[in-house]
Amino acid sequence: MIQHPQGPAQSATPAASLRPAELADPAEVGNPEPEATRRDAGSTESSQANRHWWDRNADEYQSEHGSFLGDDRFVWGPEGLDETEARLLGPAESLKGMDVLEIGAGAAQCSRWLAAQGAHPVALDLSHRQLQHALRIEGETPSDVAPSLVEADAGALPFRADSFDLACSAYGAVPFVADPVQVFAEVHRVLRPGGRWVFSVTHPIRWAFPDEPGPEGLSISASYFDRTPYVEQDEQGRAVYVEHHRTIGDRVRDVVASGFRLVDLVEPEWPAWNSQEWGGWSPLRGSLIPGTAIFVCERD
Ligand SMILES: C[S@@+](CC[C@H](N)C(=O)[O-])C[C@H]1O[C@@H](n2cnc3c(N)ncnc32)[C@H](O)[C@@H]1O
Repeated sequence: MIQHPQGPAQSATPAASLRPAELADPAEVGNPEPEATRRDAGSTESSQANRHWWDRNADEYQSEHGSFLGDDRFVWGPEGLDETEARLLGPAESLKGMDVLEIGAGAAQCSRWLAAQGAHPVALDLSHRQLQHALRIEGETPSDVAPSLVEADAGALPFRADSFDLACSAYGAVPFVADPVQVFAEVHRVLRPGGRWVFSVTHPIRWAFPDEPGPEGLSISASYFDRTPYVEQDEQGRAVYVEHHRTIGDRVRDVVASGFRLVDLVEPEWPAWNSQEWGGWSPLRGSLIPGTAIFVCERD
């Protein structure tokens, strides 16, 4: 069951996005192609646009990336770094019995892995359709203990303070929100003292390059320091997809401003076994520049 603590569900390509490469042709559904631009977009506009976008594109995302993600693996990003080897959440034995919140969980594959380790995960996502895929996976391959599913915005977590021992996110929510400090502050509030907050995002350096997997994605085309959001908008100028850029320094400051200590910053290298492209992530670019940044934070 998908819980709606704050009422029923009400959420295009960025400089570097995990969205599906091949989307349904908007012309086929009677909509003109959205215009890609860089402009300001606030929290409400970003959240609404992304909710609708992920609801419309969840099927495509899961069909394109579901087999790479696996039904119950914890993959941190397109490089394929798996929590089973990375151990960024802590030693395997420490996960047993932990209350864990996964933010921007999509189809909850990571939460299913956490449940298999004996943790009690809650998989939260803005998109109803993404969470329906979690139900689909559970129906196809039932697990001993299915994660709880919660439909909500990461900027307003519907939980009491001190509810969780651990929080995590693999590219969920953080790249899409206008106010990451608000999200981090919410995570800090719901974590118990000593809790970890581990999240992965597009590596900020990628914003300086075209989102192309080939050689054309290796030449700087924009300023790394330009924080103007990537927006796709319809004919009326309404955002239909938004991604927000922060530099590495911004992300560190956001983590610290929300009360966390940064204990590690992991930049996974592209492994030899992974020949799969994912949007602008590819073996070629992965061998030269980082594509993912994983922040490991702790709450005192
Ligand atoms: C790139 S997907 C990652 C999903 C999953 N972690 C994975 O690895 O497949 C990003 C997810 O973040 C969710 N999301 C975007 N903005 C959000 C927000 N403000 N609050 C909660 N979830 C959000 C989207 O609905 C989407 O499921």
